[in-house]
Amino acid sequence: MSINLWWTGNEKKRIENLSELKEPIYDIEKPLFIMENEAGLYYSTEGSFSSLKTDHAVKLAAFAEPVPMQNLGDKEFCNNYDIKYPYIGGSMAYGISSVELVATLAEHKMLAFLGTGGLTIEQAEEDILKLKQRLKDLPFGCNLIHIPSSAQEEMNFVNLYLKHNVNIIEASAYINLTPALIKFRVKGLKKLPDGQIEETNKIIAKASRTEVAERFMSPPPKEILTELLSKGEITDEEVLLSENLPVAWDITAEADSGGHTDNRPAFALFPAFTALRDKLQTKYAKKIRIGFGGGLGTPLSAASAFAMGASYIVVGSIHQACTEAGTSEEARKMLALATQADTAMAPSADLFDIGGKVQVLKTGTMFPVCSFVV
Ligand SMILES: Cc1cc2nc3c(=O)[nH]c(=O)nc-3n(C[C@H](O)[C@H](O)[C@H](O)COP(=O)(O)O)c2cc1C
Repeated sequence: MSINLWWTGNEKKRIENLSELKEPIYDIEKPLFIMENEAGLYYSTEGSFSSLKTDHAVKLAAFAEPVPMQNLGDKEFCNNYDIKYPYIGGSMAYGISSVELVATLAEHKMLAFLGTGGLTIEQAEEDILKLKQRLKDLPFGCNLIHIPSSAQEEMNFVNLYLKHNVNIIEASAYINLTPALIKFRVKGLKKLPDGQIEETNKIIAKASRTEVAERFMSPPPKEILTELLSKGEITDEEVLLSENLPVAWDITAEADSGGHTDNRPAFALFPAFTALRDKLQTKYAKKIRIGFGGGLGTPLSAASAFAMGASYIVVGSIHQACTEAGTSEEARKMLALATQADTAMAPSADLFDIGGKVQVLKTGTMFPVCSFVV
């Protein structure tokens, strides 16, 4: 049985020309009505419909519901981090994800990470204090990037974050988990009177391989807990409570990206992460969420990530070209002119010893060529 539906709205605002339809289709927060009369189809983004035919009502041929941006992804993700949109400004080293960039995203109810990789502890502390002063209670996080050359330096960053109550980190460049990372995770675990476990510190882990993702989806390794306990870095209660929790509830599948990258294809990586999650998930009461990052540069690519089932998205390269990013005008101009194939792989300075690579701008620079010569 087919039901006739009828649209009423402002006829003066109707769109007849298909070329004018692009904007309404991209504006997903508005509804889209498609009407049919003797002359053919026309369109509108306002009005209402009903099954009752009134005097000025026109036959409705099709209707697309509005999709408010905050309804994308996983609502629990936004609740957990006290943000409105499931959108993360990914860490960018040397303060490229700067105080200004992190604060602006936080003020617009998104989550962003200060790019502390490559900064000294003193520079990172100065930036954290500026953010605390400006944002008050609005959430933000810092990057905890694995430092293969110095476990102590990695621990210094964790101690800095704990000292200033920075409770959210984006953990990246890990292959194996380290004492510094696990200390951050378990510090402050507490059993509440109702039996729930309070988790003070939260890790959003970024990975490009399932074997790394699996480590983050599993409870902290026992040998690391024992080592931290013997050094008095964590308590017996924290060890006990961590045994049935994953290292991270949120794992970002990072496909080919502007960060350290394994050049993994998005459409192969994301389903592999969700399948692994579904396998390992059974031992936890709550759901591990899988986000997506890598190659998102337009609303359409972001929509495809949510269509795949991403709980949230992570963006890097396009933020680098923003006025808020901690980079130069020259770099911004070059990025603005870059097209899709203007990049190349080059050795990564911080993961040079273990063969880590980053994707860099090729056009207009000698970086990829020179870095291979060195
Ligand atoms: C210039 C630049 C620097 C980056 N530095 C870091 C970093 O220090 N730590 C990190 O976890 N990710 C880093 N990233 C990766 C981003 O956080 C993000 O995961 C990635 O850029 C997403 O992919 P996209 O560049 O295609 O948007 C960097 C990315 C860029 C473009």
